[in-house]
Amino acid sequence: MWRVKSLDAILATAEKKSLHRSLGPIQLTLLGVGAIIGTGIFVLTAAAAQKAGPGMMWSFVIAGAVCAFAALCYSELASMVPVSGSAYTYSYAVMGELLAWMVGWALILEYAVAASAVSVGWSGYFLGLIENALGFHWPDALRHGPAWSMNGWMPVADFSAGIVNVPAIIVALTVTALLVIGTTESARVNAVLVAIKVTALTVFVVMALPVLKTGNFSPFTPNGWFGPTGTTGMGVVGAAASIFFAYVGFDAVSTAAEETKDPQRNVPIGLIGSLALCTIFYLLVAAGAIGAVGAQPVHGIDGSVVQPGSAAFTAACNLAANKEALVCSNEALAHVLRQINFPVLGNLLGLAANLALPSVILMMIYGQTRIFFVMARDGLLPKSFATIHPKWKTPYVVTIFTGLCVAVAAAFFPVGQLADISNSGTLFAFFMVSIAVMVLRVKDPNRPRPFKTPLVWVIAPIAMLGCAVLYFNLPFEAMAVLPVWGAIGLVIYFAYGFRKSHVGKGLRGEVHELDDDAPPTGLPGAE
Ligand code: ALA
Repeated sequence: MWRVKSLDAILATAEKKSLHRSLGPIQLTLLGVGAIIGTGIFVLTAAAAQKAGPGMMWSFVIAGAVCAFAALCYSELASMVPVSGSAYTYSYAVMGELLAWMVGWALILEYAVAASAVSVGWSGYFLGLIENALGFHWPDALRHGPAWSMNGWMPVADFSAGIVNVPAIIVALTVTALLVIGTTESARVNAVLVAIKVTALTVFVVMALPVLKTGNFSPFTPNGWFGPTGTTGMGVVGAAASIFFAYVGFDAVSTAAEETKDPQRNVPIGLIGSLALCTIFYLLVAAGAIGAVGAQPVHGIDGSVVQPGSAAFTAACNLAANKEALVCSNEALAHVLRQINFPVLGNLLGLAANLALPSVILMMIYGQTRIFFVMARDGLLPKSFATIHPKWKTPYVVTIFTGLCVAVAAAFFPVGQLADISNSGTLFAFFMVSIAVMVLRVKDPNRPRPFKTPLVWVIAPIAMLGCAVLYFNLPFEAMAVLPVWGAIGLVIYFAYGFRKSHVGKGLRGEVHELDDDAPPTGLPGAE
């Protein structure tokens, strides 16, 4: 289980096969921005404000800094190993099969659960738009999933407020269909949607900043840096752990390395360029939202600090005094524009979010399918997962499977919790990548590195530390998901991947088992 897949074998595998190289640096940066700007800024700004108040400005900076350090580590590995599979592939080469499997397994949390979170975020904007623009009230039971609470370690669902989030299911399945038909079409659509999204945020900043009131910035950190004693995931750092979600996705660029022209040059450009662009936007948008309407947290009926998404928070938001609070809105940015008397622009921003958020879902499902694809190619998942469609040339089995899972999670869970769970998986993967880059410097110092992480012995440990700090500031439930998910992953590895691994069988993970022109080989698991 400590067996590694040699870097030369990985590169040979990628060369023999398989996905068509069509993406250039601009397309790749657009893919990055398409994956990054989404529910985080459009929706979770409200949750971040509930946790940190105006101090969420710092949260954006902290989360962005952790991502920048991790992106520098990603870039070195992505430029050296420009193949699909991202953190999973790097770990396989550097730290062995078991840890690679665990990283791949955590990436499922990152990508698939993030796709679900964004689907739910989309649903909030969709419902707000049809209500404000068309006056149509979608049935309550079909607007969102149940309210969840914990009874010890057992999650308990309360269906009285909602049963299933139908709009979220529809958007997840539509995007899946687009991906089954083909990446080229999807990437082109993506470029248009990115333009819409960037325009919407620009309009927001232009309208909100001029009405900024400095008084809205105080008190600046009402919940302190770590939240009051007895709370988890609150305060500026707790908000950073949640708003980290707003930056997730830049690494999806690296999962497209195998479909990129001149990846040694273009992947680092795509990763760092897209991250830098988004950070600037986020700070401007956060300043605009806080300055225009204020971003103070609401308090429980007894005056206590309450977690966004909790029952106590819902009760506080139902009070007449808090009806218009930014922190209570499901469509934070559209809400701000309506509050400052631009209702039409608010609706247009809602429309833009509706058109553009699917591009994030698309990148997340895309990243997930490519990781599954590579894991199946290595024998750690059933090889039928890697079946390419004869006409569309896409890994359609795994795409449909992923899309169905994403739709189910989106149907029954709220956006904030999904985002926090996704973050726990992402932080683990980033942590491992930061280790991998240092291990590889020692193990294979002479291999060409088209992009070298500057000051790697400083940057990589800071990235590791940052990931650990954010992880331990997630709400308890989200933190707990990672070890439970990891334990399930271990069982599956020893029951399946350990025996079936191509590297383990001496096949070096090469692809002669996978034939593009072969007819589909049946359902996953049918070997
Ligand atoms: N960063 C992406 C978003 O905020 C996942 O929606």
